[in-house]
Amino acid sequence: MARLEFKGKNYTDPSEIKSIMSEYGIPFESWGVRGTSGQEDDKILGVYKPEIDKLMRERAYQTVDLVALKKETPNLDVIAAKFDKEHHHVDDEVRFTVEGEGVFEINYTEKDRLKFTAEPGDLIVIPAMRRHLFYLTDKKNIRCIRLFKTKEGWEAIYEKVS
Ligand SMILES: [Fe+2]
Repeated sequence: MARLEFKGKNYTDPSEIKSIMSEYGIPFESWGVRGTSGQEDDKILGVYKPEIDKLMRERAYQTVDLVALKKETPNLDVIAAKFDKEHHHVDDEVRFTVEGEGVFEINYTEKDRLKFTAEPGDLIVIPAMRRHLFYLTDKKNIRCIRLFKTKEGWEAIYEKVS
């Protein structure tokens, strides 16, 4: 279940989180946990196929895959360092968390910073061009479904575009 820290308050109710995030144009959905922990990628994609297909139709995504980061991942620190500095992408960043957890800080340098902790069952879409950063928690473990329009669109861009 997701957690949100916003303007000094903590939220855990998915409907409250959805409402706050939607004010900032950030889709959040609770798809729920369906016993996919430790399963093969194809099995997981099959279990969540209805939600994935709907999102692909609604937002014109073209591809889907799974990504995993954990303590044993080679060069984990190097990979993590790409995303723990404020950046944006020219494509949406779409993440459905299957296992583990990670933190997205959106509008990081703005007064209305949203600190969102993604946990299993949570879908978040960070819209294209929206400034954010991402880091793992002390558990150093996350496994996510990702959706893309183009993989090139998902390169991190650190310079702010005015
Ligand atoms: Fe990102």
